[in-house]
Amino acid sequence: MDLKLKDRIAIVGGASMGIGYGIARTLAQEGARVAITARREPALREAADRIRAETGAEVLPVQADSRRAEDCKRVVETVVAAWGGVDILVNNDGAPPLGDIMTLDDTAWQKAVEQNFLYVVRMVREAVPHMIKRGGGSVLNITAISAIQPYAGFGLSVASWGGVIGYAKTLSIELGRAGINVNTICPGYIETTRLEKVFAGGGKDPSVMRNELVAQIPMGRIGSVDDVASLVALLVSPRGNYITGTTIQVDGGLLRHVR
Ligand SMILES: NC(=O)c1ccc[n+]([C@@H]2O[C@H](COP(=O)([O-])OP(=O)(O)OC[C@H]3O[C@@H](n4cnc5c(N)ncnc54)[C@H](OP(=O)(O)O)[C@@H]3O)[C@@H](O)[C@H]2O)c1
Repeated sequence: MDLKLKDRIAIVGGASMGIGYGIARTLAQEGARVAITARREPALREAADRIRAETGAEVLPVQADSRRAEDCKRVVETVVAAWGGVDILVNNDGAPPLGDIMTLDDTAWQKAVEQNFLYVVRMVREAVPHMIKRGGGSVLNITAISAIQPYAGFGLSVASWGGVIGYAKTLSIELGRAGINVNTICPGYIETTRLEKVFAGGGKDPSVMRNELVAQIPMGRIGSVDDVASLVALLVSPRGNYITGTTIQVDGGLLRHVR
């Protein structure tokens, strides 16, 4: 199926590695022009070079920290100056630290809200007017399965991404008539350096932790970045435009609930 992504203009956050990188590479493979962001510039440039070499697509690295309002504005301005607009916005970055809720002070909460929630709000505010000018577009947020099935210790993420899910649903209602769909993906466990760090810091042999985790996943494996990226590509493409206001887990069946 041709997703009709050729020459579409996409911004993918946190894309020097991990899930963001996988999404950027897949959109580039589908013919989109892709701007990627991250804080560390050398790794970001290397990632852009790799995606360009592998796909032949135009890739624009824009160094930025998602927690800074001025960086969010500059990312969109840079992309518009280079390519004339924005069609697709994928909000993705790192995540706040773990910690029991009762130990978290206002500073920790403010940082989490800045990174997980205000980042999305700011990027949408900057990018969506350009989508409206172009007659439509797509907003896609990456959160985590913990946002819909909370785990102890993940309070900063759970609470701030809960806000993103409510915000995205409201936005989908407000932007439907403008031809813009808005969706949120909740990945389960995905093979990235972040997951390696979780295993390394888990206080147990990492291979034992991995095996225990895999035993709980109905599909019997940890997900790949491509498992997430394939769904993103559909949702942000013209083929997926009628799918809006959803929160979808990509978790190999880990989440057990019936809606
Ligand atoms: N991997 C999983 O199993 C999993 C599961 C569920 C949800 N998630 C969520 O998915 C997101 C991506 O995870 P991942 O595993 O792909 O992480 P990752 O491998 O650590 O990659 C994170 C990417 O985001 C960039 N980044 C981090 N903080 C940033 C900031 N403040 N501003 C701009 N860029 C930033 C990083 O580059 P710099 O450090 O250079 O900025 C890097 O390119 C996270 O929110 C994570 O919680 C991951």
